[in-house]
This record gives sequence, C-alpha cells and structure tokens, in this order.
Amino acid sequence: MCGIVGAVAQRDVVEILVEGLRRLEYRGYDSAGVAVVDADKNMTRVRRLGKVQELADAVAQQDVLGGTGIAHTRWATHGEPSEINAHPHVSGDITVVHNGIIENHEPLRELLQQRGYVFESQTDTEVIAHLVEWERRTSDTLVEALHKTAAQLEGAYGTVIVDRKDPERLVVARSGSPIVIGLGIGENFLASDQLALLSVTRKFMYLEEGDVAEITRRDVSIIDANGDAVEREVIESNAEHDAGDKGQYRHFMQKEIFEQPTALKSTMEGRITKDSVIIESIGVNALEILSKVEHVQIIACGTSYNSGMAARYWFEGLAGVSCDVEIASEFRYRKFVTRPNSLLITLSQSGETADTLAALRLAKEKGYMAAMTICNVSGSSLVRESDFAFMTRAGTEIGVASTKAFTTQLAAMLMLVTAIGKQNKQIDAEKEKEIVQAIHALPVQIEAALAYDKEIEALAVDFADKQHTLFLGRGEYYPIAMEAALKLKEISYIHAEAYAAGELKHGPLALIDADMPVVVVAPNNDLLEKLKSNVEEVRARGGLLYVFADEKAGFEAVEGMKIVSLPHVNEIVAPIFYTVPMQLLSYHIALIKGTDVDQPRNLAKAVTVE
Ligand code: M6R
Repeated sequence: MCGIVGAVAQRDVVEILVEGLRRLEYRGYDSAGVAVVDADKNMTRVRRLGKVQELADAVAQQDVLGGTGIAHTRWATHGEPSEINAHPHVSGDITVVHNGIIENHEPLRELLQQRGYVFESQTDTEVIAHLVEWERRTSDTLVEALHKTAAQLEGAYGTVIVDRKDPERLVVARSGSPIVIGLGIGENFLASDQLALLSVTRKFMYLEEGDVAEITRRDVSIIDANGDAVEREVIESNAEHDAGDKGQYRHFMQKEIFEQPTALKSTMEGRITKDSVIIESIGVNALEILSKVEHVQIIACGTSYNSGMAARYWFEGLAGVSCDVEIASEFRYRKFVTRPNSLLITLSQSGETADTLAALRLAKEKGYMAAMTICNVSGSSLVRESDFAFMTRAGTEIGVASTKAFTTQLAAMLMLVTAIGKQNKQIDAEKEKEIVQAIHALPVQIEAALAYDKEIEALAVDFADKQHTLFLGRGEYYPIAMEAALKLKEISYIHAEAYAAGELKHGPLALIDADMPVVVVAPNNDLLEKLKSNVEEVRARGGLLYVFADEKAGFEAVEGMKIVSLPHVNEIVAPIFYTVPMQLLSYHIALIKGTDVDQPRNLAKAVTVE
C-alpha cells in the first residue's frame, strides 16, 4: 500500500524522489519521508506527517542533497501515522523503506532488543533496519546482509536499503509487494510502481517473488529466491507520462470519470470488428480454452468484485455458462470445490491486490483449466502469474475511488462473454452483431451520460446533510447499485447500502424515512414493473426517491420523487452506461461535503497488504 522510490545517480536525486512520491501518493498518504546519502557519506533524513507536499516544503527549506536516496509515502499498518513512524527507518549506517507487513515482527523485535537494539517507532519496518544492521556486521556485502535478513522475515515486503558507508548502491528485496527497477543512462532507479519513474525513464524491469537486487549507477544485478544470478526482461513502457497530472480537472477522480469514453475505445481497439469479436485478441490459446469453458469462477475485491457480480448476468444470461463470483479474502480461506472445465478469472485494476493474488496462487493448485486475469496494469503480479491476461487499457487510474477501471472491466468481460458464447454456440451471428454494435456505441453514449453532470450536481445538494443513503437495483443493476454505494461511502463518508430492490420488504424498508434518500437505477427492461412496485413501497412510507431512469420508463416527478431521465441505450450495455451518472452523483456529493476526493481517509489505491 505504501509507495517507494529509490535512485542512484551522479546528480542530486532529491527532486526525483519527491516527484516520484507525489505520483505514488495514491498508494498511501498519511506521512512521507526521504533519506539521501552524498558522496562524502553524509546521510540526511527528512520525514513529515501528512501529505507529500509537507515533505516537499520541509525538503525545500533544508539543504538536502545526495546522489543516492530512498523515499516513502506511508499507509499505516503498524503504529499510528506520525513522524516517528514515518519511513525511512534507520539503524546505525543502515536506512530502510518498506512496503508490506512483516508478520513475525514481534518475536524479531524481542530478539533484536535482547541484542541491544533500541526501537524508536511502533512499526514492523524497524525490525528490518536493525536486522540488516546486525547481519551487515558479518556479511561481505550489503546484498548478503539483505539475503540473510530476508530469510528471517515472514509476510509481504518490498524493501530497499541504503548503507551510509557505501553510497554507491541500493539493495532491494521483493516478496509479496511489487518492485520495479527503472533503467537510466548512467543512473538507475526503483519504485513500487513505474508511474513514479516515468519522468526519468521508460525502461523497466520487474522483480519476481524472492528476488534480491543490487542497483548501482551502471549496473543492476539480481539474485533469485534460490540464490542464482538471473536476468529479468526489460520492458519498454508506453504509459502516458502525464498520467500523474490532473490537467483541466479538479480531481483525478473527475478526470478519470470523464476519460471513460476514450478508455472504452481503447479497451475495444483491435478486439472487435464492425460486428464480431476477435477471439484471438483475448489471449494466447484463447480459442482453445474458451471453447472448453463450462464454468467461470471470478475472484476480486471492492469495485472489481462489483464488476464481476454484474458480469455474472452476462456469463449466465448470454453465454449460458455458470458463473460464481467471490470476494478474494473469503475465497482464499475456505475449502472450495473446483468445477470441471472451470476458468478462473481474477479482476483487478492494479494487479497487485494482496488477497486477489493470494487467491490466484491458491487456485492455480486446485485444478482450474486456466487462470485468466482482467487487469489494468501490465507487468503487474496478477498479469505475470496468470496463464493469460486480458488488459483493460483504461490508462493509469490514480483516484483511490475506482471509476474507469470498472467500466472498462465490464466492457472487457462483455467481449469475453461474447467470445465464449460464440464458441459454445449460445450466441449466434445476429446476437453477436447486436452485442458488438452496442459496445461500439458505448463511448458516444457515455459522453451523453457525462453531459448530465450539471443536473446531477444540482441533485447532490440534497444529500449533503444526510447520514445514510440506500441504492436500489434489480438484476444486473443490483451490482451497479452496489458499486454506486461503494463509491458514495468511500469518498463522501456517507453510509450507503445497496439492496436488490425485491429485498426491500424483507427488512430495509424499516429504515425508510425522510432522512434516508433512496437512489434507484431504473432502465427500461423486463423488471421495470417490478421495480416500479418497489419504488411505490418507498413512496408510501415517506421516502425521498432519486430515480435514474430510462426516458421511456414512464416515471414522472411527483412530490418526494426526483427523476433523472436518461437516453435509452441497448439493454446489454446499459449497466455500463448507468454506472456513470452514479459516479457523478458520488463525486458531487463528496465535493459539497469537502472531503478529500482523490485520497479519502484511511484508504489507499493498491491494497498490497492483507
Ligand atoms: O486494484 P483492484 O481492482 O484489485 O482493487 C480492488 C479494491 O481495492 C478497489 O476496487 C477498491 O475497492 C476501490 N477503492 C474502490 O473504489
């Protein structure tokens, strides 16, 4: 969850480190710190509670210079957010930053205290600093000391070490938390996400699980988990350099909501013709694998889970393939039965979500016919560890609240469903044409949904003083309501729940009063009349209704009921379309409430710890 940046160069690296942290701030933002060593072996460390800007201001006021350095932005796990708990942590000449959790930190802490080490912080990270310092005393190299240290650590970590007496190098270990090495000319870098380094390089090398690497200005040497020297593939990144900029927008979330037409175009590019899906574009051996699929098991967390829940209706309803969707943190800890010819699909924006990754690793041993990931970050752990990856190509998503990742996941899954249905003959050429044409129409229709921004902004005012909100939907719009509720609670801190509208009378109806706005997702489909009955149940009890309805659905504004009348779109893609006004609603409510939209309290973008 935390962000790490490191650099070894001839020039001063402070600016590079701080700029890298700014780009990683979405990974954690309760405190930040930097440590640099200069050619005379002087180490300077600056840490601040709060955002990276606090650190940047502090660094600007002091004379902080050095050619080798590490930096960190923190999402607290062990120990409250404070300057003392902020990274880097120091033990003698050793300085450390760490992302992840050291599960056995307590026994290690006791052992190190017995050896005479005094702990400054409550963090698990500080044990790494002292352990490396201890092992360094009897090791020929810093890499050897880190190797010995890594052998004693349990849990997940990406950790980087600098030795004040040896400022020519950084050493880094990866076990469960991503680390990417950025290759420069006469200088090298590392980070927990390539985004941090796009201003200095385009060439990247991803460390594998168990790798320990040494980085100097001229070289990168890597030893794998078996202690063998290895080379890792160098990947040229084509990620947008300005992905870290908000441009004309006030927030990244707003920018990402408005980027959805372009993102969707990119998702579909090269994957569909005018009227059919190009099955081969889904992945190597897709043709063979998809023709055998009899069951789909989707595993994901958060927003990605919600998109899986929505896609389940397509897998079963269009392709006739049974589909289960499960939260990764539940799946990984239960005994499950693998169905015959079951395709495992992990869904993830980041590709680094710890629970999803652990579930994938577990499932790979349990006889699934193949493990596929639908993911937005190439080179991420899920992409590398799955049998094949279908990239969503949404572009970098920085806002902690996921938006374009969700709609592009849905579009990717609709193409996948169509491919499977085509292979198993559940979808004929005419249906395929209808689906593909509906997908093609989406970017323009999403533009139309975005044009409701002002109308939705006006509606948001009604929610600002409310403590609770209910979202209702039926069928595939129930997961869309779930996603809307997640967005609202995440960025506005208003308690929001989603219910399948038919469930109302089984309990939640008791909550309805004038202080509980009820948002309804109301497309013009087979369930419309049923949904209208549910709306009446709310009205009859004095509930305040906000109905996002198809213009042909026949809703009329009456007292206690406001209508947002939306253009009709093809029923198959309508769940993607209806997501957008929901995103705008949450965004505008959060704006009125004055919350930190892009970095809501207590959260981080990529949840790389359990
Ligand atoms: O990167 P992933 O899609 O695997 O992330 C899963 C969740 O952590 C993520 O969707 C989270 O729920 C978002 N903050 C929701 O907006």
